[in-house]
Order: sequence, then C-alpha cells, then structure tokens
Amino acid sequence: MNVTVIGTGYVGLVTGACLADAGNNVFCLDLDENKIARLNRGEIPIFEPGLEPIVKRNEAAARLRFSTDIAASVAHGDIQLIAVGTPPGEDGSADLQHVVAAASNIGRYMEGYKVVVTKSTVPVGTADKVKQAIIEAQKKRHVGNDFTVVSNPEFLKEGAAVEDFMRPDRIIVGSDDPRAIGMLRSLYAPFQRNRERIIVMGVRSAELTKYAANAMLATRISFMNEVANLAEAIGADIEEVRRGIGSDPRIGYQFLYPGAGFGGSCFPKDVKALQRTAQDAGKPLRVVNAVEEVNEAQKHVLGFKIRDRFSNELRDKCIALWGLAFKANTDDMREAPSLALIDDLVNAGARVRAYDPAAGDEAKKLFADSASVTIVPQAMDALEGADVLAIVTEWQEFRSPDFAAVKKALKTPAIFDGRNLYDPAALRAHGLEYYPIGRNQ
Ligand SMILES: NC(=O)c1ccc[n+]([C@@H]2O[C@H](COP(=O)([O-])OP(=O)(O)OC[C@H]3O[C@@H](n4cnc5c(N)ncnc54)[C@H](O)[C@@H]3O)[C@@H](O)[C@H]2O)c1
Repeated sequence: MNVTVIGTGYVGLVTGACLADAGNNVFCLDLDENKIARLNRGEIPIFEPGLEPIVKRNEAAARLRFSTDIAASVAHGDIQLIAVGTPPGEDGSADLQHVVAAASNIGRYMEGYKVVVTKSTVPVGTADKVKQAIIEAQKKRHVGNDFTVVSNPEFLKEGAAVEDFMRPDRIIVGSDDPRAIGMLRSLYAPFQRNRERIIVMGVRSAELTKYAANAMLATRISFMNEVANLAEAIGADIEEVRRGIGSDPRIGYQFLYPGAGFGGSCFPKDVKALQRTAQDAGKPLRVVNAVEEVNEAQKHVLGFKIRDRFSNELRDKCIALWGLAFKANTDDMREAPSLALIDDLVNAGARVRAYDPAAGDEAKKLFADSASVTIVPQAMDALEGADVLAIVTEWQEFRSPDFAAVKKALKTPAIFDGRNLYDPAALRAHGLEYYPIGRNQ
C-alpha cells in the first residue's frame, strides 16, 4: 500500500519505518528541513532502541523515503497518517495548528480518494476540524475529492516504540465508513497475526480513548506517589505496599512505581488537554485535576529532601545527577522531572553535574546558557567534586554501580533516589546515606 506519514518525529518515524518493514511504500514528510536532511544522510534524529536497522533496511529497499515536498507527499499515499505534534496551548488545550495545517495541505493537493488518519493525540471533535480544513482547501481549488477522516490514536511508548508498534495490544480505529475501515484493516493486518487487535468504534470515542488511557496511567502514578509520601510519614515502606497491592490481579504491578513525578511529551500535556475538554463540557474531571496537582508537587520532593539534608543551605554545594530523560531508553526530556529538580537546585544556589546515557546532547542544548549546570559524558564524571548524588531516571546502568567508588567520590556520602533503585540495607552497609521515595529506612 502507498502510505504517507505526515510528521517524522517519535511517532511518525517509528510508524513509517514499521509500516515500510511490513512491505508498504512509505513517504515520510516533515517540514523540518534539518531533520529530513539528517535522515537522508542516514542519521536517526532520535534515540529509540531497534529503530535504526529498520530505517536503514527499508531505505535501502526503497520502501521508505524522507522529504519536505508536500505536494509529492499528498500524491503518494492513499492513506495519509497525520503524526504531527499537539503541544499544549496557553489554556492547557491541545494546540491543533499543526494538525489543521497538515489537513489543509492534503486538501490543497489531493486528487482522488484519500483516507486521512489522525494518529496524533487530539481532543474530541478534531476529526470534524480536519474534515473542515480539507473541504475548505479543496473549495479554493473548486474541487471536491472524496475522503474519510479516521481517528487512529497511537499507544506506543518511547523506549519500546518499535516493539509496541510491531506487537500492539490494541489498534483503535474510530470511523463508521466501511471503505476506510477496510483499508486500515489491511494496513494493520501484518501486526496482528495471532489475534485480532483492531477495535472499531465511533470517531469521538476513539479520540477520548487515548486521553482516558493516559489519564488512567497517570492516575496510578500520582496515587502511588501520594501513598508513598504517606508511607514515609507513618513508618511504612512503599515497596512492600507496592508488592502487596500489585499481587491483586485487579490492580497488577504495571505503572505502580512511586518516583519523582511523571513527565514526557504525553502524560502532562494529555492530562491538561483532557481537563480542558472536561471543563469546556461542564463536566470537570476531579480525579484528573488531583492527578496533575499531585504530580506538580511530586516533581519537587527530591529537591526538598536535598535541601532538607543541608538545612536549606545549598550555596557552594554541587549535586551529581544521574538521569535527565523523562524515563529510561529515550533521549526525550520534554517535561522531565529532572528539569524541575535542576531548577530547584540551581534556584537554591547549587551547581549540578549531570549525566544521561542518551539525553546528553539534548541537555547540552537546553543548558547551553547555564553556568550552574554541566553535562558530563560518563556517570562517574558527574561525581567529581560533588557533595551528593541524585537519581531521576531508571536507566539500567544506574542499577548496580560501584558503591564504594560512589562513596569515595562524594563529599557527603548520600544518594537521593527518585526511582527507588536500591536496597536501603545494602546502601547502609556501604556506609551511604540513602533517601528513596516512600521507604522505611
Ligand atoms: N512521543 C510519544 O511517545 C507519543 C506516543 C503516542 C502518541 N503521541 C502523539 O503523537 C503526536 C506526535 O508526537 P511526537 O512525540 O512524535 O512529536 P514530535 O514533536 O517528535 O514530532 C512531530 C513532527 O511533526 C513535524 N511537523 C509539524 N507540523 C508539520 C506539518 N504540517 N507537516 C509535516 N510535518 C510537520 C515536526 O517538525 C516534528 O518533526 C502527538 O500528538 C503526541 O501526543 C506521542
């Protein structure tokens, strides 16, 4: 099938590469000339495990190409997948300007029937806006080619995006048009060989499903963070509690980890956008409002613990920081809890020496103008001249460090662990002070 993917970011690039790998002819469009030039030089602009070989082999097989040519992208795909960003607007609602621009471009150039698919996370009612934008752009050309707008929200997780795309739990198709549904069934057939994964529903339900899923996951995290803070105050251990409740199959273990708050390009903005939708509909979601409030507070818990350890005197202190990405296995720092911690530390007068296995380049750009933040190339480099160590991302390489070397390098042998990576007793045995989240030490 000829498929166009509009927007070649985390979702678009993975989608394009995986669809090409299944034998489709894929045209990836982006307006960012630099990104397309890098892709055409064989560089992968994002860190995503397993993605590079798929891109390479499908480019080599001429099934995958990258371009900024809008007219050619519209001509190419019978299916046009919109995977552009939907960042939060000033009032928290999703900013749909890129989605509408992509739709207008389709209307500007389309000939014959197209299935236009919103893969971006978009609020209920967006399919109508996409439809309108295409109709208006076609009107200006005095044409009226037939098309169908389908909502097909994406559920891949950064860090496991290829695996998620290739083996999805479910594929939501929001449409009532049999022709378009049939085309999406064919497109996704290779990714659901052992059982049917497609769930067909109304467009509005599909749009809401994505937000409801992310809000539910965010709720679990905020719930655990609040219980963790309570556990700490009353002498319980959240790790024991987590095991105790996760063993209930109605609850399960996934997304039950307390930490330094959730971040990333999706949860924070999707929670805000859902709140906005609910507010506008006169049906405020009180649970979701609390989820955001708890998360905002949680991002400052680690900073508070560090300040408390030094009686609020962080001037002349240097904090080593392991982990900048919002989670392991990605270089994405959008809304990362590390940013809130760095802010807290720098505002209190401290310097920060930070290391991340993948997000270092991104961090160097973000902190290029900051004299207080140094990004270093190795984990142990962060500890040079540092007073204490803080950990914000659960990268595998942080799980079993040389504790003797860590203790030796730090002026005050203390670890502030925003991911509960270690056994408190083992750290005590190493002579390290340990400050995890919600644990009985
Ligand atoms: N990142 C994730 O893990 C994830 C998971 C599921 C859903 N989503 C959703 O998918 C959407 C995309 O997210 P992302 O993280 O891939 O974003 P991104 O910022 O990494 O990529 C978006 C790309 O779209 C390009 N773009 C913008 N306007 C364009 C236009 N008119 N034509 C062509 N290209 C255009 C940008 O240059 C950028 O490269 C968002 O709505 C997001 O909420 C993201």
